Amino acid sequence: MKPRKRVLSGMRPTGTLHLGHLVGALANWAAMQDEFETYYCIVDWHALTTDYADPSAIEKNTLEVAIDWLCAGLDPERSTLFVQSHVPEHAELHLLLSMVVPLPWLERVPTYKEQMEQLADKDLHTYGFLGYPVLQTADILVYKADVVPVGADQQPHVELTREIARRFNNFYGPVFPEPLTKLTPTPKLPGTDGRKMSKSYNNTINLSDDEPTIREKLRTMVTDPARKRRSDPGNPDVCPVFDLHKVFSTEDTRAWAAEGCRSAGIGCIDCKKALADHLVSRMKPFLEKRKEYEAQSPEIWEMLRSGAKRARRVAGETMKEVRSALKLPPAEKDG
Ligand code: TRP
Ligand code: SF4
Repeated sequence: MKPRKRVLSGMRPTGTLHLGHLVGALANWAAMQDEFETYYCIVDWHALTTDYADPSAIEKNTLEVAIDWLCAGLDPERSTLFVQSHVPEHAELHLLLSMVVPLPWLERVPTYKEQMEQLADKDLHTYGFLGYPVLQTADILVYKADVVPVGADQQPHVELTREIARRFNNFYGPVFPEPLTKLTPTPKLPGTDGRKMSKSYNNTINLSDDEPTIREKLRTMVTDPARKRRSDPGNPDVCPVFDLHKVFSTEDTRAWAAEGCRSAGIGCIDCKKALADHLVSRMKPFLEKRKEYEAQSPEIWEMLRSGAKRARRVAGETMKEVRSALKLPPAEKDG
């Protein structure tokens, strides 16, 4: 049998995940588990690059993310699920790569300036934050990943990974394959205020929200602003509630909502209630699993530790090659 291609992706432990993560990254990651050899990493060091002044939430957030992953169908039997800081080889490779990465390559990464502006309350003029994409490169290359499934915002980082791999290989011989980006298809998913669903906008529907919370969030969600009264016809094409219908409702409900909206046959309250019914039934299995997992945190940490052990075996092999390519003196006699 041909060995399966290797996949690596990562997610920062920023707390409970939301619907955007579910229909974006997680659905795609879960679907890759049979065809590929999959490594999924909770990147706690990356969280530190922006949250170094107050790291108090990182441990708890790491567990939350692990629980959401399991609920979303990432399977520790079929994937290696682990925490970045449990695999120190990422840090060693990050250090060695930092020798060859020209500073201008990092300064021109679009997320660098964007994040600095967006997170203006944090001082991101640090060595670690500039090196964020180098750390990400190490995450990928230490497993010699072939494919990196990410959203469009991360594409420049994977492009940089390819450039760094090429530069390393030019200096020291062919060690790293150049990984390909697999763009994860993400449907348009507005939050409750109509802007893109995002934790920083405080408009998310979370994977940990219970049924009353989901219903209340939808009840107060913004709609087509031109539809002020029940008797005004609306336009589903500009309504964020309808964008969610497209992702979570059945075709019948969607047709009913579109027609009823345009003819003022239904009110927004009816329309949102139908959406809530579909969303709640889609989330129910998730919420039930979440309850079980929440009672099993010691087992989940154990699962992550055994994932890290598996990851370290692969990462360790790569690092032997890297050290020898760099002509560093072997630490062990046969190493
Ligand atoms: N930077 C990525 C993000 O913010 C997270 C990440 C870290 C990652 N290391 C990675 C993604 C390696 C893919 C591969 O989403
Ligand atoms: Fe939006 Fe539905 Fe109201 Fe139309 S009826 S404006 S689609 S919430």
